[in-house]
Amino acid sequence: MNNYHRGACLVLSLLLLPLTAMASDALHQQALGLVKQFGATLKPQIKQAMQQGGPQTAVEVCANKAPKIAAQLSAQSGWDIRRVSLKNRSELAIADEWEQGVLRQFELQVAAGKPAKELEYAATVAGEYRFMKAQLITPLCLQCHGTNVAAAVQEKINQHYPYDSALGYRLGEVRGAFSLTFRPEPPIQ
Ligand code: HEC
Repeated sequence: MNNYHRGACLVLSLLLLPLTAMASDALHQQALGLVKQFGATLKPQIKQAMQQGGPQTAVEVCANKAPKIAAQLSAQSGWDIRRVSLKNRSELAIADEWEQGVLRQFELQVAAGKPAKELEYAATVAGEYRFMKAQLITPLCLQCHGTNVAAAVQEKINQHYPYDSALGYRLGEVRGAFSLTFRPEPPIQ
């Protein structure tokens, strides 16, 4: 390799380093934006349904709208957007091995007192950019995920989710997480 080539290689590697860092920062920002959009679309609909017909109506709304919002956002953005849990309600929410590891990590971080808004994790896995953001149990969630769910709500849940295991949660526990995947072409090295 002559000096010219050596110089070109150095310039190239210097260029590539910040580019990769920049790309992953841009992906992180995109992922955060999509999570925000998901929450901002779903939450008002649940709240409205709660006010209009109580939690049993809201179960219906959640069952119908949540998967649609995830599918629409995925189609619009080119990302794969899901919610996952170690105790899933929807059969679409079964966490894969990587997601299970991150969810367990979130649980340890909650136990160690890490603030809810800092519970996120991003990594490059097999050429894909993956991002997760935890969702913790607040008072609202207890009506449909808590230890003492009303009979009418339970009935609605059973109708839609005969294999539900998303009950028995207490305030502040990790309910699950948004899980987003971006598959760039070519894959991230
Ligand atoms: C009115 C009842 C209701 C309330 C209130 C509610 N959920 Fe749910 N939750 C559901 C239903 C129904 C599903 C299944 C939705 C689907 O099929 O995608 C679900 C699914 C989820 C999932 C996806 C994983 C899974 O197990 O399917 C997460 C995460 C979740 N809820 C978190 C929360 C959090 C956090 C709160 C409080 C801020 C909350 N939920 C409040 C009914 C509710």
